[in-house]
Amino acid sequence: MRLIFVLFLFLVVNCSDPGIPANSIRESKIEHGNFTYGTVVFYDCNPGYFLFGSSVLVCQPNGHWDKPLPECIMIDCGHPGVPPNAVLSGDKYTFGSTVHYTCTVINCGDPGVPANGMRYGDDYVVGQNVTYMCQPGYTMESNSSSIRTCTSNGTWSGSIPTCRGQDAITKDKLYIIVLVFTKIPLKPMMGVFGKSLHA
Ligand SMILES: *[C@@H]1O[C@H](CO)[C@@H](O)[C@H](O)[C@H]1NC(C)=O
Ligand SMILES: *[C@@H]1O[C@H](CO)[C@@H](O)[C@H](O)[C@H]1NC(C)=O
Ligand SMILES: *[C@@H]1O[C@H](CO)[C@@H](O)[C@H](O)[C@H]1NC(C)=O
Ligand SMILES: *[C@@H]1O[C@H](CO)[C@@H](O)[C@H](O)[C@H]1NC(C)=O
Repeated sequence: MRLIFVLFLFLVVNCSDPGIPANSIRESKIEHGNFTYGTVVFYDCNPGYFLFGSSVLVCQPNGHWDKPLPECIMIDCGHPGVPPNAVLSGDKYTFGSTVHYTCTVINCGDPGVPANGMRYGDDYVVGQNVTYMCQPGYTMESNSSSIRTCTSNGTWSGSIPTCRGQDAITKDKLYIIVLVFTKIPLKPMMGVFGKSLHA
C-alpha cells in the first residue's frame, strides 16, 4: 500500500504555470511556486470583457490542465445605426460606451424666384409650401407648379415655374392680323378712300 502511494507520488508531475490571459485576473492559492496535482485556478475578466472558455482550471496528475486557458473578449455592441434625419455622435461601441443622437431639421433651401414671377412663403423646412405667381402681364406655363412643398428627402416637389411674357403671343397675333390685312384686296378700299377724299 505504502509502495503504491510512493509510486503514485513519483509518477505525479507538476503542471506548468497556465498563465494569465490578456484583460483577465487569476485567483489561485499558488501564485508563486509549483502548480501541483489538484491545484485549482480561477479566471475572471476585466469589466467590458466576457470570458470565452472555462473560468476554472484543475491541474491533473499527468501535469496537464483539464481545460484550455480561457480568453477575455471585448464586449462590442457594434455600430448602433443612424435613423433618417439624425446625427450620431460617439465612435466607441464597446462596453460602457455612450452614443448620442441629434435630430436634424430638413431644410430644402431657397427654391428661387422665377424671372417675372413672385414667390410667397419663406419657410423652407419640411412640410412647408411656397406659392408662385407671375407678374402682371405674364402667364405661368401650364406644366409649372404654382405650389411646391418641401419634401422629407430635402427637395422641393415639382419644379420652378416659368412665367411667359404675353408679348410673344402679341407678336403672333400681330402677324396674323398683318396676314389677314394683306389678303384683303386693296382696290375697293382705295375706292372708298378715294370717294371720301373727293367728297
Ligand atoms: C517545485 O518542484 C520542484 C521539483 O519539480 C522542486 O525542486 C521545487 O523545490 C518545488 N518548488 C516549490 C516552491 O515547492
Ligand atoms: C401645402 O399644399 C398642399 C397642397 O398642395 C396642402 O395640402 C397642404 O396643406 C399645404 N401645407 C401647408 C403647410 O400649407
Ligand atoms: C414646361 O414646358 C416648357 C415648354 O412649353 C419646357 O420648356 C419646360 O422644360 C417644361 N418644364 C417642365 C418642368 O416640364
Ligand atoms: C424625393 O421624394 C419624392 C417623393 O416624395 C420623389 O419623387 C423624389 O424622387 C425624391 N428625390 C430624391 C432625390 O430622392
